[in-house]
Parts: sequence; C-alpha cells; structure tokens
Amino acid sequence: MKDTIRLRIFRGDAAGGEEREYEVKTFPGMVVLDAVHQIQNEQDGTLACRWNCKAGKCGSCSAEINGYPRLMCKSRVEDFYDASGMIRVHPIKTFPVVKDLVTDVSWNYKVAETIAPLKLADDEPRPLRMAQDDVERAQEFRQCIECFLCQTVCHVLRDHNRTDAYYGPRFMVKIAALDMHPCDTLERRAFLRQQAGIGYCNITKCCQEVCPEHIHITDNAIIPLKERVADEFYDPFRMLLRKLRRSK
Ligand code: SF4
Ligand code: SF4
Ligand code: FES
Repeated sequence: MKDTIRLRIFRGDAAGGEEREYEVKTFPGMVVLDAVHQIQNEQDGTLACRWNCKAGKCGSCSAEINGYPRLMCKSRVEDFYDASGMIRVHPIKTFPVVKDLVTDVSWNYKVAETIAPLKLADDEPRPLRMAQDDVERAQEFRQCIECFLCQTVCHVLRDHNRTDAYYGPRFMVKIAALDMHPCDTLERRAFLRQQAGIGYCNITKCCQEVCPEHIHITDNAIIPLKERVADEFYDPFRMLLRKLRRSK
C-alpha cells in the first residue's frame, strides 16, 4: 500500500461546488471514511460527511467512490486508489446535496410513511405462529440498513429522476417483507402497481449488486412482487371476474 494517497472530494452545496484535493497518510486497514476523518481532524474541519457506526450497520456513510455508490466505512483505500494514488469521493447522486458529502434523503422517509403496516385478521390466534421458511424469507428483507445505495444506483431514480412515479428498490424490499408475511391480510397489489410504480423496474439488478447487506432485492423481492401483480391484473380469468363485478 502507498504511504500517502490523495483524495479529490466534492466540496459544495445545493447551489454547486467543485472537487478539492487533499493528501493523507495511510495505515493498514484504512477505509475511505478514515481518510475523510483524517482530513476533518488535521486539515479542514469544515468538510461535512454523515456517519455513525463505522461498522457497515447504520447506513449513514453512503457516498460515490470513483463514481460508484458505496459505504465509505466498508471501502478499503487500497481497493480504490489509482496508479497515481488518487480516489474521488462525491455525494450520492440521486438525492439533493446539503453540504459536501451529506445529502438530503428525506424523500425516502416520506415514501415509507405511505406504506401501510402489517394488518392482522381480527381473529388471528395469538401468539402469532410462522413456518420457519416464512421466518427465513422475511429475515433477509429485515437486514436492510437503509443506506439507500440501491435507491442511488437505480436508473429510474438516478438517471430519469422519477421519484414521482417509482418508490425504488428499498421500498420494494419493505413491501415484500409485509406482503410475504403469512399473517398479513392487506391487499397490496393495486398499491404496488399504481402508487409504488413497480412496473417501472425493468429488472436490471443493479440494486441487488450494490446492496451491502447482500439482499437479493430483485430476485427475492421485486420479481415475486411483479408476479403477484401480474397474476392480479393480467391473468385473463381474473380480468374477466373484475369486469363482471364492475358490470353488476
Ligand atoms: S432492478 Fe429495478 S429497482 Fe433494481 S436498479 Fe434495476 S430498475 Fe431499479
Ligand atoms: S436494500 Fe440494501 S442497498 Fe437498499 S437500502 Fe437496504 S441495505 Fe441499503
Ligand atoms: S458509518 Fe455506519 S454504515 Fe458506515
């Protein structure tokens, strides 16, 4: 590993900004977040970044390292500097910049508020009992740390800016956890198709590749949800039933 490396870090706010270059001394095991902290402590206390656990579990330190969304606390510097010892660090692209590496991800929390919680039948026996398969399926979805890297990489939100039309992969995971719960009685398919915009996902799997918790977002959440929606709205028998119901 090089003894010193350079970081070109975005400095600015919603009005604009530019990269500024810093040189830092390395140490074994150093991650990009360590380098940012070293700059804050020794060179420039005005550099803003969000972090909390430094253990890949709070989801706060998301940033774009060499143009790709990652957690800074899980990114070893030696995996990212180029031949000249340079790493570029920018805020995540999909959400508005507040300052430097800090973005405003509050849109996600507003989306979360629109998702109805688990709805049990009034006569559901207590305590709730679940088959082990159902427990394991839901467990994967509950590992989400809300880093929003998947939201950041999803081209519907990132390149087409369709936050008005699609909730994004993080919320497909959240809805899947509810919809696949064996005791949930809420019909979520119309909501998924219309308000949550699941049809905008074209299964590129970029979200799945970037997830630090290795959640199979597309394979285990989005594709099964799409199949449920397709069964409801495009199954010819169900379509006929709906038309008959409407004509009464
Ligand atoms: S698979 Fe769907 S949700 Fe995931 S990045 Fe691609 S379009 Fe977005
Ligand atoms: S699904 Fe994965 S990438 Fe998306 S917010 Fe949760 S932990 Fe982050
Ligand atoms: S600081 Fe918590 S995930 Fe990086």
